Amino acid sequence: MRHILIDTDAGVDDTLALIYASRSSDVNVELLTTVSGNVPVKEVTQNVLYLKELLHWDIEVCSGADVPRSRKLVTAPEVHGDDGVGNYRKTHGITFDDWETGDAAPRLVAAAKKFRKNLTIVSLGPMTNIADAVAIDAEAMMGAGRIVQMGGVFSGYGNTGVHSEFNIFVDPEATDFVLNNGIKIDFVPLDLTELLSMPRRLFESLTRSPRHDDAEITRLLRKAVRFYADYHRATDRLDGCFLHDPITVAAAISPHWFQFVGSSIDVETSGAYTSGVTVANLRKRARSGNSRIAVSFDATSFMKDFAMKVFRRKVSAATVRSECLRERFFPSFSGNL
Ligand code: RIB
Ligand code: CA
Repeated sequence: MRHILIDTDAGVDDTLALIYASRSSDVNVELLTTVSGNVPVKEVTQNVLYLKELLHWDIEVCSGADVPRSRKLVTAPEVHGDDGVGNYRKTHGITFDDWETGDAAPRLVAAAKKFRKNLTIVSLGPMTNIADAVAIDAEAMMGAGRIVQMGGVFSGYGNTGVHSEFNIFVDPEATDFVLNNGIKIDFVPLDLTELLSMPRRLFESLTRSPRHDDAEITRLLRKAVRFYADYHRATDRLDGCFLHDPITVAAAISPHWFQFVGSSIDVETSGAYTSGVTVANLRKRARSGNSRIAVSFDATSFMKDFAMKVFRRKVSAATVRSECLRERFFPSFSGNL
């Protein structure tokens, strides 16, 4: 059985990803660590504790970095709400007083030492905690099986800077530090995650009349996902939302659905217009490098599995094809492989 550790900046799509992971019985999720990103780490941790309660999930939660390694924190309340879940917790006054500052980075190192090649670290936010762990013990972190990172964009427009993706944009020095210490990363970039969306209409039908024991989590999801979809409608001409983080969890737990190519990746850490840009030369035939990039995936298998686990509903292949698959601004680069 593979062991999974999830580092998150929850976040609406992180919330969906955590529900998905919690109901994936073919892996052991060992620990959830939190990091500032979509919202400050205090809010992130509260979201994760709330999910743990709603899902009756027997899992340890450990908070981590509250600021990036060497720059000011940028958050995205306009995308995820002030509390990270579309203001659902804020509206209902849901807080956890036993929240305290934790030691995510040493816990990551301990997990890497304990599970070695059997450990997959799934990083759904900025890489601050991962970089802090590498700073503590690079050799131990190198010994982990995989680090799967939702992040980067390699052939088109970003969602934060013109050409940068949010997670890398928030703490580019962290990703740069991890790569420059010889740690390989499996990137799941926007190029891939934006090939699929969950349209608002589909989400509304999937969450209509939930099972009795899913009633509260469905209320949370309805508020959070509608908020997130409103943002996408206003900015991306998309009436629905992207599933960046659930797809990244799938890349960790069902890697056979994904095709990766090896590449050397660099991260721009300065630049007035390009800070946080991920750079990889995918034209080159020699594909050895410091990392891999997910370039295509079986979106239908993912979406069916995701809908069944998160909403306990079936989605047909025809629905995925006609309602969820989309073109990106640039043609997919998978045709050039
Ligand atoms: O760019 C998308 C990523 O940034 C997702 O992980 C989202 O939750 C935010 O962290
Ligand atoms: Ca995230």
